[in-house]
Amino acid sequence: MIELSNADIRSLQKLIHNISGIYLNQRQCERLKQHISTYISSNNFKNFQQYYRILKTEEKHDEQIHTRELLSFATNNETYFFRNTAHFDALANVILPELVRRKTNPNLRIWSAGCSIGPEPYSIAITMSQNAPLLKNWNLEILATDIDYQSLNQAKDGLYNKRSLQNTPEHLLHKYFQQIGSGYQIDNEIKNLVNFTYSNLQQTPYPRSKFGQWDIIFCRNVIIYFSEEQKRKVIKHLHRSLASGGYLFLGHSESMLGLSDSFMVTNCAGTHLYQKNDASPIHQQTTKPKQTEAKIRSTKSYGAHNWPETLNSSDLTMDRKETREGDKQPISGNLPPNIDIENLIAKGKLFADKGEYQSAANHYQKVIDIDYHNAEVHFLLASVLEQLDSLDEAIYEYKQTISFDPTCIMARLNLGRIYSSAGDREKAREEYKIALSKLQVLPPTYDVQYSGGFSAELLTKLCYKKLEQFPTM
Ligand SMILES: C[S@@+](CC[C@H](N)C(=O)[O-])C[C@H]1O[C@@H](n2cnc3c(N)ncnc32)[C@H](O)[C@@H]1O
Repeated sequence: MIELSNADIRSLQKLIHNISGIYLNQRQCERLKQHISTYISSNNFKNFQQYYRILKTEEKHDEQIHTRELLSFATNNETYFFRNTAHFDALANVILPELVRRKTNPNLRIWSAGCSIGPEPYSIAITMSQNAPLLKNWNLEILATDIDYQSLNQAKDGLYNKRSLQNTPEHLLHKYFQQIGSGYQIDNEIKNLVNFTYSNLQQTPYPRSKFGQWDIIFCRNVIIYFSEEQKRKVIKHLHRSLASGGYLFLGHSESMLGLSDSFMVTNCAGTHLYQKNDASPIHQQTTKPKQTEAKIRSTKSYGAHNWPETLNSSDLTMDRKETREGDKQPISGNLPPNIDIENLIAKGKLFADKGEYQSAANHYQKVIDIDYHNAEVHFLLASVLEQLDSLDEAIYEYKQTISFDPTCIMARLNLGRIYSSAGDREKAREEYKIALSKLQVLPPTYDVQYSGGFSAELLTKLCYKKLEQFPTM
């Protein structure tokens, strides 16, 4: 395998940052080092310089096989359906009725920027479908973009695991997904409402709607990885891409404080949204809704949709209590409080101790949303997922733990235990073997992390015992 020097890794770190705005920290660079040295060998490059030269040439051309792979590795694609439920409540109950009432043309244009593997734009599409009567005879355009081609391909497939659907109400799961083995396939009715395409938020021009500027942009949990300067630039371009009075949704740990004063912050259905500040405030909009005119249309060329007409449009009128004059303020005031990671973890542990595993999982998930590379919290989440019998997800989280902290012995042992209970002797053996190799280099009395006080010696004995149970076949 080709060894990479620190200078090599720094060049890649810089290149990734220049292209995408993503800044990899030291731990991520270590992982990148391992990944890229394997990548270079398996793609038959003579050395790092040859690989790097191609990356630099690709910067100027359309064909970007190796850059795509590099970015795919660098991006954090954590996402799930109906992430931050309050956003979707606000969309359905306040924003949508308001836009329908206010707009003079029947075109609704929504962009999910940094859509990852698709749950965000599909959750928007489901919300639209649920509110179809309101959008009768409207043209609906939903564009979903990302810098990561692998995620975009997954998004287009529309097949998800249970974890991606952890926040999806049961009735929507039944209505819009088909279970295939342990996976869930999104219905074509929803799939056909969303167009997926590549777009890099660090490059202009930004995607345009077929009908002009966007009414709504979701750009959640994307700018969190950018420098202040890049954030400011992205926010400026998003502002330009929005129509007058259009709405911007950011992630719950992101704020616009110090980045722009061109938005108004709106408290809406229990959450904060940003509105392009050249429109009259939403509480003053009095134009009649247009939902009775005809029927909703998607701008994708998949033909007409048979929208269910189960909702009464009067059920969807804006709740004026939530949009009083006092609730609308310049962005410098009343922003979401900073999320305290330690506090969330401590609360998660308290819930886990009380046996309230779902609440514990929700707290850990919030931390992952903010600090994706936190190995400890992936481990904690895996442990409660085991308690909840969500074994596939627990396996996934233990593997995440290991990818962010390859020294984590307990993640290996727990994986071994899960595989062993599931009768997968080969995988169980593999995990115990790796755990053993890591334990053998520790002093016997070493207190193994996350083991609850077990020494390296004791866990070594356990590994031997397990390996005796699973002799090589
Ligand atoms: C954590 S995910 C967020 C997904 C979704 N918005 C959500 O909140 O659930 C961040 C996504 O932003 C994408 N991303 C990162 N840098 C980007 C850039 N410069 N341009 C476009 N997308 C980018 C990543 O590829 C990743 O899929």
